[in-house]
Amino acid sequence: MSDSPTSKGLGADPYERRWMVISLVILIAFMVTVTVAGFALGFQVPGDESRVDPRTVADSPPWSEPGLRDLGNGEYTAYVLSRQYLFNPNTITVPVGATVTFYVTSTDVQHGFKLQDTNVNMQVVPGEVSRLTVEFDEAGEYKYICNEFCGIGHAAMFGRVIVEADTGGN
Ligand code: CUA
Repeated sequence: MSDSPTSKGLGADPYERRWMVISLVILIAFMVTVTVAGFALGFQVPGDESRVDPRTVADSPPWSEPGLRDLGNGEYTAYVLSRQYLFNPNTITVPVGATVTFYVTSTDVQHGFKLQDTNVNMQVVPGEVSRLTVEFDEAGEYKYICNEFCGIGHAAMFGRVIVEADTGGN
């Protein structure tokens, strides 16, 4: 490269310097995006909660009794077993305002767990437990679907969370 009389600092060519600035701006933009997504928008990375044996997981607690646990104070945990081609349970009912932590695992192949209108979208890998928490502020029906192709019945693999409105009674 020629020694341009206009170069300043680093002895870099102006053209080269411009690209260095662009690279830096892109890097900062990515860092801001990730920070905003994580802290302001509540994006979560599905946690690899723990390891299980996919061959025996369905017979060992808590997975031997999948479903909802009421922890009190509006907190719930939901254990969901995935297998070709169903989720167990396929219906979960909670009151509005509930905070539900989903623990999902597979007994056979890789599945997905995507919960409509929420941030929950997890891979479900045999041998691993995926975990994400969601707060249901609005009553309604939230479908969860398997969004990883898992075989011929993939399209029929779904369930739903029913969030019941506060009736003000009992
Ligand atoms: Cu399970 Cu697709």
